[in-house]
Amino acid sequence: MPDMFETSPPLPDKVVDTFRDGLQAAKNAGICEPTAMTLATREAEKVSARTVLLKHFDQQGFVFYTNLNSNKGRHLTQHHNAALTFAWLEIEQQVLVEGMVEQVADAEADAYFAGRPRDSQIGAWASLQSQPLGSRQEFEQAIADYQQRFSDQPVPRPPHWSGFRVKPLMVEFWYGREFRLHDRFRWQLDQHNHWQCQRLYP
Ligand SMILES: Cc1cc2nc3c(=O)[nH]c(=O)nc-3n(C[C@H](O)[C@H](O)[C@H](O)COP(=O)(O)O)c2cc1C
Repeated sequence: MPDMFETSPPLPDKVVDTFRDGLQAAKNAGICEPTAMTLATREAEKVSARTVLLKHFDQQGFVFYTNLNSNKGRHLTQHHNAALTFAWLEIEQQVLVEGMVEQVADAEADAYFAGRPRDSQIGAWASLQSQPLGSRQEFEQAIADYQQRFSDQPVPRPPHWSGFRVKPLMVEFWYGREFRLHDRFRWQLDQHNHWQCQRLYP
């Protein structure tokens, strides 16, 4: 793991509070899936992006859950870099995050998984996420098989299913203004590894 990751300090309260305020404003505005974020990963020279849902955030970073054998899971296991974008278009706000990624602790993933609906838990076992699937029927059969397997017990977290925490090295808040004269505030680490905020041209 690179040095930057080992030494990167937690996010300042101001960043966490600003993000929380934006997310709350997005929820208040009735935005569909306000926790949806675009996750970009890389594999060698190729870059990929897809939507995932934010499940937790604090000074340590932004957490989502997925299948570790999926494309994104493989990418993040090989390359510990990721970028996130929240686009809250109805309230003219965007948040960008760049950082290093770590897998969450097993206990954290277990606790989150235990709180999911049972059908979602079964789905985590039945879906070989990102692998070719012959037919919908094949998937439904796999779901039925796992329902049977766990019929008389709580569904355990699959070993191939967990969370990733994006630990930021950069967070940027964008606020839309008239005539495209927007505001941008970028938080990043200076040469002394302290968080600093800078206003940027839009
Ligand atoms: C609104 C929305 C939320 C999603 N949330 C998640 C999520 O939290 N975790 C996940 O693994 N996939 C989620 N997906 C599916 C991913 O976008 C993607 O199709 C899937 O994870 C496979 O991606 P990959 O092949 O790049 O690994 C979501 C899709 C949408 C449209």
